[in-house]
Parts: sequence; C-alpha cells; structure tokens
Amino acid sequence: MTQSKTNLELQELIAEMEQRRAAVEAGGGEARQQKQRDAGKLTARGRIDALLDPGSFLEYGTFTEHGGGALMRGVSAPGEGVVTGSGSIDGRQVFVFSQDFTVLGGSLGKRNAQKVAKIMDLAARTGCPIIGLNDSAGARIQEGVDSLSGYGEIFYRNAIYSGVVPQISAILGPCAGGAVYSPALTDFILMSRGSSFMFITGPEVIKSVTREEVTFDELGGADVHTRKSGVAHLEFDGDEAVLAGIRRLLQYLPQNARQKPPPRRTSDSSSRPTPELLERVTPDQRRPYAMHDVIHSVVDEGTFFEIQPDWAKNILCGFAHLGGEVVGIVANNPKVMAGTLNIDASDKAARFIRTCDCYNVPILTLVDVTGFLPGVAQEHAGIIRHGAKMLYAYAEASVPKITLITRKSYGGAYLAMNSRDMGADVVYAWPTAAVAVMGAEGAANIVYRREIQNSENPEATRAEKIAEYKDTFDNPYVAAAKGYIDDVIPMEDTRRRLIATFKMLADKQEQRPYRKHGNEPL
Ligand code: HXC
Repeated sequence: MTQSKTNLELQELIAEMEQRRAAVEAGGGEARQQKQRDAGKLTARGRIDALLDPGSFLEYGTFTEHGGGALMRGVSAPGEGVVTGSGSIDGRQVFVFSQDFTVLGGSLGKRNAQKVAKIMDLAARTGCPIIGLNDSAGARIQEGVDSLSGYGEIFYRNAIYSGVVPQISAILGPCAGGAVYSPALTDFILMSRGSSFMFITGPEVIKSVTREEVTFDELGGADVHTRKSGVAHLEFDGDEAVLAGIRRLLQYLPQNARQKPPPRRTSDSSSRPTPELLERVTPDQRRPYAMHDVIHSVVDEGTFFEIQPDWAKNILCGFAHLGGEVVGIVANNPKVMAGTLNIDASDKAARFIRTCDCYNVPILTLVDVTGFLPGVAQEHAGIIRHGAKMLYAYAEASVPKITLITRKSYGGAYLAMNSRDMGADVVYAWPTAAVAVMGAEGAANIVYRREIQNSENPEATRAEKIAEYKDTFDNPYVAAAKGYIDDVIPMEDTRRRLIATFKMLADKQEQRPYRKHGNEPL
C-alpha cells in the first residue's frame, strides 16, 4: 500500500517535471513557432538539433523564468527566451546558446543574460568553443537597466575570453541594438541571407533622426555586412546552411588557445607536384591570374575555406589544410585592384592574422602586390592607421610564418605582406618574382627624370632606363643575394616545399619581451 502510494507520488512528480519541460520547450507557443517556420527559419531548439551531433545536447537553465519588474507582471517567459547547454560537433565538445525569438522577441533580460554567461564561463573553464545562435530584438525594454546590465555581463565575457576559446556567432534573425555587439566581439559572424539583420538603430529611428528611408535588408542584411561593412564573415542561404558553415569552420579551429587545430586525414600526397602553376603564373607582370587557382593547386584538395570572400576582394584570407595540417592563408588578389592594399584589405588581413595567431594556426602569405593604394580618399580615411594594423599583426604573430613571393613585391606592401624583417620564418620566391621599392616604370621616371628630360629622344631613353632598372631589380635574386629570400623554388615543387617547411617549423617557440599587452593601432 505505502509502496504503491510512493510510486504514485513519484509518477506525479515525474509527470509534473515533464509537463513543465514541455511548456518550456513550447517556447512562445505554437502560433509564434509557426510564424518562425513560415519565415523560413528553424526554431531555437531546431537550430541546436541541426548544429550538434545527434543526441549530444545537454540543456542547463531549462526552468529559468524572467525576473522582470512591474511591467512583466503576468507575463511568462519560458526558458527566459534562450536555450543554453553543451553538446558536441564531430565529437568535440562545444557550448551553445540559442535565442528564442518566440519568447518576447528573444529580447535579453537579466536572467536570460545570466544563462548565457553561465555557459560562457563553463566553456572557458573546460576550454571549449562557444557558439551563439542569435535571433533577438535586443535589450528587453520592460527590464530597463537590468537588461543593459545583462548585456554588460555578456560583452565582458566576450572580451575576456577572446583568444581563450573560439567564439562563433550565427545571426539568424533580427539582431537589433545591444544584440549586435556581442557577436561583434566574437571571432566570426555568419549570417543567413534574407532573414537576418544587424543594426544599432532600426529603419524607424533612422527615419525620424536623419529622414533617410531604408529597408531592414538595405540597412543591415547579410549582403550589406559581408560586402560593404565587413562586419560579418560569411553568408549562407537559410539556417541549415549557416549551421553547416559553423560545423565546417570548427574543423579549422582548435578547442582553445592551448591546443592546435585538429589534423585531417588526406589522400592528397604531400609530394604532389604542382606543374599547373607554370601555366597559371607567367612572367608577364601585366597578365593577372587567379590567386584562388594558385591556392587550390597547392593546398589539400578541396580544403580552402575562404573567410570574408565578398569584402575587400583585393586580398584573400582563408583556412586550408596542407599535408593534413591547418594553415591560414593571406594572399594578394591580382585580379582585383591589381592586388593593392587599401584600408579594408588591411583591416581584413590584420584581423585574420590575429585570429590565426591566437588559435595556433600557422600562416602562409602569398605575395603579388604593387603597394598601398594611392589616393586622397584613402589617405584622409587613415590608410596609415589601417595599414599599420597589418604590420603590427604580422610582427606580433608567433605562429610559424612562411611567405612566398609569386610575382611583384614592392614598397611598403613588401613589408606589410610579411617580409623577412617583419618576422617571416622562411621566405620563398618563384622565379617570376620581383622585389623592389616600386615598379620599373615609376622608378625609372623618378631616378632618371633629368636624364630622360635632357635626352634628345626622351622616350627612347625612358625605355632604356626602364629596361635597365628591370634587369637590375625585377627578379628575386637581388633580394635572395642579400638574404631576404631563403630560396627561389621551382613552381612545380611548391606544395612539397611548403608542407615540408611547415613541418620543420611545427614546434617553433618564440619568446617576446615582457609586456602587459601591446598597444596595436586600431
Ligand atoms: C521586449 C520585445 C522587444 C524588446 C520586440 N519585442 N522587441 N519585447 N523587448 N526589445 C516583442 C514584441 O512585443 C512581440 O511580442 C515580439 O517581441 C515580436 O516582436 P514583433 O515586433 O512582433 O516582431 P517583428 O515584426 O518580427 O519585428 C522584430 C523587430 C521589432 C524588428 C526586432 O520587434 C523591433 O524593432 N523591436 C525593437 C528593437 C529595438 O529597438 N531594440 C533595441 C533595444 S535597445 P508578442 O508578445 O507580440 O509576440 C538596446 C540597447 C542595448 O538593445 C545597448 C547595449 C550596448
């Protein structure tokens, strides 16, 4: 009798737990969940299921409710509008929070923030990546300063855990106001095209203040942030593709700053010759070639994962595997603006170099650059300050660094693309390379101006001086003779040489003088 009563009580308790859990899992209710699906989006929990290895999710803070004041009386916020927990991706532990737009617009109240902060702390303590799936209307208006304080708790952790564990943000809905700054403090932002937006103030506020009329998409859609502003790194069609993008990105990152990224088995031979490069890159400096093709030739087949492919296309940044090991690649793109460095390219590369360095990703730099982009607009917008970021980032990076000069390497850009003096461990050049202060035409016009002007046949003299300058400097051997280039390598031997050289550098250690932290140009 007592036994069956106990069983009954236990069953009731279990039923209550299940009922409560089901209520939490229903979020803002069926109607709002359907609205979410109708908009082509997954629900907060559906996203976690799509992101993580099946059955691996462990939820924490399930029964959290809002702690709001007078304006929240009678309002329910199941799970506090955010689902948090841990799980695995390809067997590696990660922590994830997924904002639930169906609960008060995914707005951030104090306890919502505390749930997120808790898993961020766990991620840092256990040395695992943090993934944020963002879909939020920003600070919860009803909670006033408490919600601002909640953002503070998250921003603080984004900053102090930066470079400790990888932090990845997916933007999968409107991210307004404070909601954008947490992603902005993380390592990578991935957006879904057409259904995600990021802005500090929305179209309505902008209209009332500046009278500008703009749609959500025009103001802060995925196209804007991956092509114009450079705020986001990658865009995809739909939630599933974004989540698959995160899974792929993680393949190139370690669990934390103390580890190296995981190696990847490859059937692509480390000694595979690359004779196709002879066709692609000719000695004719005016004939551009696709640097993408060079990268694809050299790296393990199909492994190049470009970061920010649509912004500042004059420089290419991305991860790849070389002989099974992860490398970060920074390369000039001679097909866009002749590969010159401008403000956006400098920002893009500097950020990528720093990301590689903090997560122990060796850096390969492919150089074909005539210099920094000349122009009043660039100078007035601070190309000096922005270009300095690249110089700083390369010098600061202590990971193995190999530089390969494919063709031109001129002037300040020679230094900004990680020359020997800027800390490259090994510098290679192809026979097509040319290292000089500037191109032969510009140089001849300056150095021999008087001779050209005073000549009976200025054009013939100009051509002669250009040829003379080219003969002297338009090759890799002057720089190689002075020790700035370690070897001029056959193009068809590039892959083998790079893999062997990164292997040689694998255990590189570099001691730097004590400092609290550097004061990099911003
Ligand atoms: C509380 C909010 C909310 C908010 C929306 N909701 N925004 N609740 N706080 N900030 C609620 C709505 O009342 C609604 O509740 C539900 O969320 C969905 O909102 P809708 O407007 O119906 O959705 P939609 O039409 O899709 O529009 C989404 C939106 C819009 C574009 C995000 O809601 C919006 O503009 N919200 C305000 C965004 C904003 O200005 N936030 C900035 C806050 S200031 P029901 O019950 O009807 O489902 C800030 C400063 C922090 O963040 C600074 C830190 C540095």
